[in-house]
Amino acid sequence: MTISSSNPFLWGAATAAHQVEGNNTNSDYWVMEQIPGGLFKEPSGDACDHYHRYREDIKLLADLGLNSYRFSIEWARIEPEEGVFSAEEIAHYRDMLLVCHEYGLTPIVTLHHFSSPRWLISAGGWLNERTPARFATYARKVVQELGDLLSYVCTINEANIISVALLTIDTRDRGLGEAETNAPVGIQDQALSKPSAYMQNWLAQVAPQFNVRPDQLYPFILTIAPERRQVILGAHKQAREAIKAINPALQVGITLALPDLQSVEGSEARLREVEQAVYLNYLEALHQDDFVGVQTYSRSIVGPNGVLPVPEGAERTQMGNEFYPEALEGALRRVARHLSLPIMVTENGVATDDDSRRIEYIRRAVAGMQRCLADGLPIIGYQHWSALDNFEWMLGFDKHFGLISVNRQTQERTLKESAYFLGNLAKAALQEEKAHL
Ligand code: FCB
Repeated sequence: MTISSSNPFLWGAATAAHQVEGNNTNSDYWVMEQIPGGLFKEPSGDACDHYHRYREDIKLLADLGLNSYRFSIEWARIEPEEGVFSAEEIAHYRDMLLVCHEYGLTPIVTLHHFSSPRWLISAGGWLNERTPARFATYARKVVQELGDLLSYVCTINEANIISVALLTIDTRDRGLGEAETNAPVGIQDQALSKPSAYMQNWLAQVAPQFNVRPDQLYPFILTIAPERRQVILGAHKQAREAIKAINPALQVGITLALPDLQSVEGSEARLREVEQAVYLNYLEALHQDDFVGVQTYSRSIVGPNGVLPVPEGAERTQMGNEFYPEALEGALRRVARHLSLPIMVTENGVATDDDSRRIEYIRRAVAGMQRCLADGLPIIGYQHWSALDNFEWMLGFDKHFGLISVNRQTQERTLKESAYFLGNLAKAALQEEKAHL
């Protein structure tokens, strides 16, 4: 398929395999979660049991009026040992894709969403120069087996996440920012910049699980050496080429964590440095792609020495970042200034137990996106994070981003008001789009 004005705007919600499926036992995250007293509040366990309940979940999204679903395929399931591919797991994802089509949802599939096979970490992880070729082998297999049911493929989720996290470490190292963080995920970044004795002890327990030394442990989310960018972007490029060689019509992109960037007066030069680190170092490598995925949660305000703490008195989300739905508009406009590609909002959302704040967040974020569309920005979809309340990585299960709540004992799903709100927005917008055709 090709992107043209005749393709409807893609309204949907997003998940990631490790956060919802449950029992992803061959992944690096699973291994790390089992070691107590470290980065993880709790293990992922059965998560939302989406691995068995995807039909029900996909139907819920379709019934709301959404027309797309972003989810990820778990590399560790498809290729549990290097070069060994699981026919059973391929069949599982084939069925998920078929169910999406059955309910009229366009699948937007991510190939790598933070978690990697444990064998990859034993083989040098995200600093090894062979990782791009290994990732391309996996991507090739997925597209050979499932390409007939795919249309949009995101190779790697938030390729720049560490660059975003390092901004706050940098700030802290300068004695600013204290325990505040504007980073969009709950990375315990102090642990990454200068491991405490406590963290060193945890890393010393984790490393042998992968048969590496603690200083050779390079999972996607813990790799801070500058060379990681080359490996990640190399993996993206090789995967894109492998996919295009099989199926040139597939739309291939990468996704980036993009806080809106603002500066206080006099800090414009510093803002440009931050923009270079978080936006441009990555956008510059994407000109051959078909689209780019934008993932925005809040803003980062840059002062003379780096990113400032959340403004005093500002409303905060459960993640500790600022409740600032207008960030999406800022990020979209910044991307469009630097890259002429279709843009998909692949994540945007808020962690809160007050669902009326989620409704407010969606209302204002979507209004900002619609102002961009009115100005002609080539935005092709909006995927809300997240479809389900889920396993928020190191922070466990009590950060609630979902449109749908999940009872952790019974796995029962309950739609929140915000789910209907987004569904109604989508239905109205799609109807209007149709009327203008
Ligand atoms: C993003 C991740 C996603 C989720 C949200 C809250 O950085 O891509 O998996 O954790 O943050």
